Amino acid sequence: MKTPSTRKTSPRGTRVVFACSACGEDRPRWFGRCPACDAWNSAVERPADAVAQAAEARPGAWHVAADEAPAVPRPLAEVTLAASPREPTGFAEVDRVLGGGLVPGALLLLCGDPGIGKSTLALQIARALAQRRRVLYLSGEESPEQVRLRAERIGPSPPELLVLCETDLSRALAAVEASKPRVLVVDSIQTLASAELPAGPGSVAQVRECALALLQVAKRRGVPVLVVGHVTKDGAAAGPRVLEHMVDAVLYLEGERFHAVRLLRAAKNRFGSTNEIGVFEMSSNGLAEVRDPARAFVGEASAFENPGAVLVTSLAGTRPLLVEVQALVASSGFAVPQRAGSGLPPKRLAVLLAVLEKRLGLRLAHADVFVNVAGGLWLEEPAADLGVALAVAGSRLERPARGRLVAVGEIGLAGEVRPVPEIARRVREASLLGYGPILVPRSQVDEALAADASAIGVATLAEALEAGLGPKRRAARAEDAGDVDEDALAPSGGTGA
Ligand code: TYD
Ligand code: MG
Repeated sequence: MKTPSTRKTSPRGTRVVFACSACGEDRPRWFGRCPACDAWNSAVERPADAVAQAAEARPGAWHVAADEAPAVPRPLAEVTLAASPREPTGFAEVDRVLGGGLVPGALLLLCGDPGIGKSTLALQIARALAQRRRVLYLSGEESPEQVRLRAERIGPSPPELLVLCETDLSRALAAVEASKPRVLVVDSIQTLASAELPAGPGSVAQVRECALALLQVAKRRGVPVLVVGHVTKDGAAAGPRVLEHMVDAVLYLEGERFHAVRLLRAAKNRFGSTNEIGVFEMSSNGLAEVRDPARAFVGEASAFENPGAVLVTSLAGTRPLLVEVQALVASSGFAVPQRAGSGLPPKRLAVLLAVLEKRLGLRLAHADVFVNVAGGLWLEEPAADLGVALAVAGSRLERPARGRLVAVGEIGLAGEVRPVPEIARRVREASLLGYGPILVPRSQVDEALAADASAIGVATLAEALEAGLGPKRRAARAEDAGDVDEDALAPSGGTGA
């Protein structure tokens, strides 16, 4: 294999740089591993200021023609706000995330893992919008027949919904000019490529070039452009991440592959809050909106008869969500017991287990601990601490929660229950749905009682345990039923069970 040169000038004498094809970082010297993103063998040689040169040399379709009137700056105070009305998409859950609807001229990026349902959501939005205006669905991934097949599952397609399968940027832009859609959907940015760039489709250079072209389309024609982008689990793939600063909003469609629930979340939104989430369920005919999210994240009532299930109210944007947390503590067959949590940060779980062990004397050192958040939701909020801790304690002690217990509170390292934001709204939601008793931080009990008379204030984890968990049930195996005792931290290198 030829060793790559480390020269700084090309044979023709122009200065060259080496750019990482994964993240776009450029360096004057060749590198085997990108210093910025650690990708191997990603260095590609290109002329310094290639982008500037390319823009000058190429009168591409998206460059403003010389005969166009020059842009004139105007006083900010004269900019009228009425000029950017929002157009509802027809999906309440999407509109909520967008902050009211689509803004004309906005470039939106819809990201997510492959197979999560991006094309489905994009097509559903396109279809809903096409009831009132012309929408062009530009697909580089599928044939018109495949798009039609998917559309069949969703419902009849309105006549103003146009489809074009094209991967060449300039041909796609020409089609946009010709068909004059009022909304453009591009699925996906990784399949679109400009023939004038040497890089392959999906490379940083191509993705950036295509996104710039689409940005021009959005701003010049004043149409919203929705761009789909694939992201790998660690988000490291070349592509959409480099666009985040370029677009007006970044929406993530998330969910567990084998779960029906899908969450739409804005990671960035120039037109609204990034806290809102939209909840969908993948059905046999597309994504269905979940209007009552409690249904999505709370399991069957029978699950609550078993120890280890507790509800928490998590605040997602303006909407509190009731979420079921389940824990299973079992004696471990390994020297190093397993700790696995799906739906909450592993560090957070480790801290909570340490607090339970140290402050309550709960024996967990030889136990496998599994925590699961229902519906594939990600509980990042510290307000979920109390619920998670009670679920673990309940499972360890074989004590089922009282009623349909809801627990809200952050847990400090001393085992104290700390206040959380917006307690009244969380309590109101829980009582509205008929769940209870509701444990809240003692310092917020007055506020909570005003929302629901059955709220119980707790100051420490120990108090919460007594107030929230019922009497001990007969354990399946005697040694599985742990006891609360003081010297729980006895060192031992042996295996459990
Ligand atoms: P898709 O939108 O193609 O995902 P992406 O564009 O993110 O790669 O959808 C992927 C999955 O959704 C696929 O496995 C089939 C499933 N699906 C349904 O369950 N119901 C439906 O109505 C549709 C259209 C898709
Ligand atoms: Mg797709």
